[in-house]
Amino acid sequence: MGYDIKQLKIEAKQEIERADDLKQMDLVYKKYLGKKGKIAEVFSFIKKATPVEKKILGKEVNIAKQELEKMFAEKKKDKERQLIDLAISKEKIDITRTGDKPKHGRLHPITQVQRECEDIFQSMGFEVVLGPEVDSEWYNFDALNVPKDHPARDMQDTFWLKQKISENSKNNFLPRTQTSAVQVRYMEKNNPPIKIIVPGRVFRNEATDASHETQFNQIEGLMVGEDVSAANFKAIMQEFLKRFFKTDIEIRLRPGYFPFTEPSFEMDARQKGGDWLELMGAGMVHPNVFKAAGYNAKGLQGFAFGVGLERLAMVKYKVDDARLFYQNDLRFLKQF
Ligand code: DAH
Repeated sequence: MGYDIKQLKIEAKQEIERADDLKQMDLVYKKYLGKKGKIAEVFSFIKKATPVEKKILGKEVNIAKQELEKMFAEKKKDKERQLIDLAISKEKIDITRTGDKPKHGRLHPITQVQRECEDIFQSMGFEVVLGPEVDSEWYNFDALNVPKDHPARDMQDTFWLKQKISENSKNNFLPRTQTSAVQVRYMEKNNPPIKIIVPGRVFRNEATDASHETQFNQIEGLMVGEDVSAANFKAIMQEFLKRFFKTDIEIRLRPGYFPFTEPSFEMDARQKGGDWLELMGAGMVHPNVFKAAGYNAKGLQGFAFGVGLERLAMVKYKVDDARLFYQNDLRFLKQF
């Protein structure tokens, strides 16, 4: 029996070419070059062949074996190279791709405005003081020269807590209607000179509309000393507003009425050429308020002011409805 080495080679080469992964190549290798493969079969035939056959076949099969081994080795190298390239291309970091922006939380615009105000006033020597959100009728009204049955109480519709109303206003509690409630609390425990601001939430029992919420935030200001004047108030406000709105702001004081100040003013502000906007209430601390705090009011002067944070934010960011701040609509909130 003879062997057609040429034919064997052609078939083997075709199969090597067709094998397109390492596993198939392995099978083809075994089939032709393995211990029990076709080439091995020829070698074992040669052992028993005649010397002439041995010589001719032996040379041919050796050459075929070398060629096939070489072809295999090359193809295997190529395949491995391809696999490595593929793996690298998959792992490669494309530094030109735009990254995914990490999602940052942010402070609520009113908190941002509050902190900005705190920074500005602190840099002018004011201390930030806090008070309780539920306070007594005394601190919220009586101590501020707003006696019971005084029409001024109607200026601020009050939520009352469920309780037996006492004769003593110190025992009646309410969610404070104004941060002014902290004035006497603070003065009872601290002596002049005083320079504080009091940021915080206040509550009013009224219908909500574009400029009224039942809950909002104020900053109360109080500066007390021997010769604190309305001129000091104007200078401090001018500086505060310039820094808060980041532009020169004109202010004007109009006469106003608040029970805890005498005289009282409404403070309007405008940008050069703009319209006057009513921004806050203010005035010179009423002697009765000093008295309620236990001060000897003689020779003592002070100014106080109260400004709504929502109002400041609305003017600064040109928002025309205060309710937007509390609807938790991210499309709105993300703008700040
Ligand atoms: N507490 C007042 C309000 O809520 C605002 C205010 C006006 C505060 C005049 C003051 C002030 O300290 O002097 O409407």
